[in-house]
Amino acid sequence: MKPKVFITRKIPEAGLAMIRAVCDADIWDDPLPPPRNVLLERVRGVDGILSLLTDKIDAAVMDAVGAQLKVISNYAVGYDNIDIPAATARGIAVGNTPGILTETTADFAFALLLAAARRVVEGDKFVRAGKWQTWGPRLLLGAEVHGATLGLVGFGRIGQAMARRAAGFGMRVLYHQRHDSPVAESLGAVRADFDTLLRESDFVSLHVPLTRQTYHLLDARAFRLMKKSAILINTARGGVVDPEALYSALKNGEIAFAALDVTEPEPIPADSPLLTLENVVIAPHLGSATHTTRDKMAVMAAENLLAGVFGKPLPNAVEQK
Ligand code: DGY
Repeated sequence: MKPKVFITRKIPEAGLAMIRAVCDADIWDDPLPPPRNVLLERVRGVDGILSLLTDKIDAAVMDAVGAQLKVISNYAVGYDNIDIPAATARGIAVGNTPGILTETTADFAFALLLAAARRVVEGDKFVRAGKWQTWGPRLLLGAEVHGATLGLVGFGRIGQAMARRAAGFGMRVLYHQRHDSPVAESLGAVRADFDTLLRESDFVSLHVPLTRQTYHLLDARAFRLMKKSAILINTARGGVVDPEALYSALKNGEIAFAALDVTEPEPIPADSPLLTLENVVIAPHLGSATHTTRDKMAVMAAENLLAGVFGKPLPNAVEQK
């Protein structure tokens, strides 16, 4: 009998075909995530789940599946949507998709940095609104990128990829993480404590996972330390930033601008006060959104799922304590 799996959304065919070939696959074929009650129902009796970052896979879901559940394969590098201790306690392996989306996500973070600094989105709105009457000496002036200081909060794969891009722009790079990075020197990045990084950076870009320690790391105190001209870029997880503190900081001029690919909650509610501000640009979580990368993520997630359901070690397993 083929292993049974539930796939919570239609991921690229590159991965789906691999799964369909050897599994009895139930695929949630809707553009929106399965509602909680549907998820709890559809997972019953499966050997593996392929989940997305939009699906909360907690103990209740694992217990609804049954004791035969062997693997949860997340179609993302981040896995804050999965209760890892609950999976570990039940002997369920968890996989993710690290590495392949590093450069793609750094490209997008840098795109947001440039767009925010040089007011690309505001420029486009201005032109479409029919306001472009002449070349203006003071029209939509922005911030210099070359020569500026970039502060990287988190210096893992994506943080390091940002440092490589920053070198091409002649930026000074600070990074903050618990330990010295062995690659920092070759990337021209200097370790700084959190407060120094906030005080000295023209751009602060977030590259940490969402954990208990990083939840609302960027809070009112952090914004007060930042330069009034600072630009915040968040392509990590919305929960790393306190949205109310961000709103106040942007509204009161404690920082100049925010470019966000992720929000808390996600999607951002239509009545969020942040959407009333001119000095914020928000994208709908597009960091890894290229055809090539999403195909590679699909293959990697399928490989993890298949390894798990056939009782093999996952090629990309999350560290489970
Ligand atoms: C991830 O993989 O965690 C990103 O947020 C989406 O690709």
